[in-house]
Amino acid sequence: MKIFEDMKKTFDAKFGAAETQKYFSPGRVNCIGEHVDYLGGHVFPCALTLGTYALVAPRTDNKSRVYSMNMADKGVIEFEMSGLKYNSAYDWANYVAGTVATLEQAGYKATNGFDIVIYGTLPAGAGLSSSASLEVLTAVILNENFNFNLDMVEMVKLSQKAENEFVGVNCGIMDQFAVGMGKKDCAILLDCNTLEYRYSPLKLDGCSLVITNTNKPHSLVTSAYNERRQQCEHALAQLQQGKPDLKALCALTKEEFAELKKYINDPIEQLRAQHAVEENQRTLEAVEALEKNDLKKFGQLMKDSHVSLCEKYDVTGVELDTLAELAWRVDGCIGSRMTGAGFGGSTISIVQDDAIEEFKRYLENGYTKKIGYAPSFYVAGIADGTHRVKD
Ligand code: GLA
Repeated sequence: MKIFEDMKKTFDAKFGAAETQKYFSPGRVNCIGEHVDYLGGHVFPCALTLGTYALVAPRTDNKSRVYSMNMADKGVIEFEMSGLKYNSAYDWANYVAGTVATLEQAGYKATNGFDIVIYGTLPAGAGLSSSASLEVLTAVILNENFNFNLDMVEMVKLSQKAENEFVGVNCGIMDQFAVGMGKKDCAILLDCNTLEYRYSPLKLDGCSLVITNTNKPHSLVTSAYNERRQQCEHALAQLQQGKPDLKALCALTKEEFAELKKYINDPIEQLRAQHAVEENQRTLEAVEALEKNDLKKFGQLMKDSHVSLCEKYDVTGVELDTLAELAWRVDGCIGSRMTGAGFGGSTISIVQDDAIEEFKRYLENGYTKKIGYAPSFYVAGIADGTHRVKD
């Protein structure tokens, strides 16, 4: 593969010629089921053909040297493989170091380090989970080299733990799960409460998934994200006054929520909880519609999801709203919504293949006029989860 050939030249120049192993780890996009993974809800993501490539050579000592071709200005980053702590000097490599540390704490100790060259095709800051992609990649590299015999779901959980505890982002399980467990041409219906899942073929019948990146400069996603989680946890604690055995917001039906919502004092927290309950139901309805080939209904539910994320969960912002509203007006656009954490990042749209050019033109013009800079477009392919690439 051409990408690996180019990477090998960089590898040899940075670290000296050596025999290398090849890996690929995808990014992810979520079709529907947003901001419910940490509330025991259902999500419907898929892994992307855009992702992170790695060339890896084991070393004989305990040191690792990592280099990203996308972050050339950061140079080669070095660390020892045991007792790792978050270090701002590691920069992007904290996702690698964090996974090494989390596996070590779980009893899976690396006994040597690695030289690694990384090349990512995911646009930075687009909300397509480049961090989860790196974490699961690291877990798979360690698992392959040290025969830990971890199954993918265990690696997914450890990768999420690395993000929560080492990096400090209180994310749910969706991103790492989609990255690790992705399957070509399928989306995954995942129950984040039980981790039960099934694959659903994304048969889009003359349509494609189009990702549109707002290109919004990086915003303070982490603090707003953690705040939404706290509001929902507080709402749950109040609902438990009326239903003591309630374990998660998404365990409620809309009808149960209507009866219980009086227990939530703060109107904002009431709205947050309402989004969670409705978005969970919407996701199940959407998957059912897709499986009956009712793309029109699926598209309508995508729109409803965006509106709820805007009005009830308040995680969209002018950039994402502008993209979604423009998309809804394009003939041949079946559905469009923000995807991922929000605040910036990307939308996902289902667009008829013969309307994609017009879709891009219309969104680029309208968005640039209002926001002052252009968005970028990616027609997404759906890939398998993180794996070693055999020669
Ligand atoms: C981010 C988090 C996920 C999920 C989404 C919102 O991508 O990492 O766990 O909560 O936001 O659905």
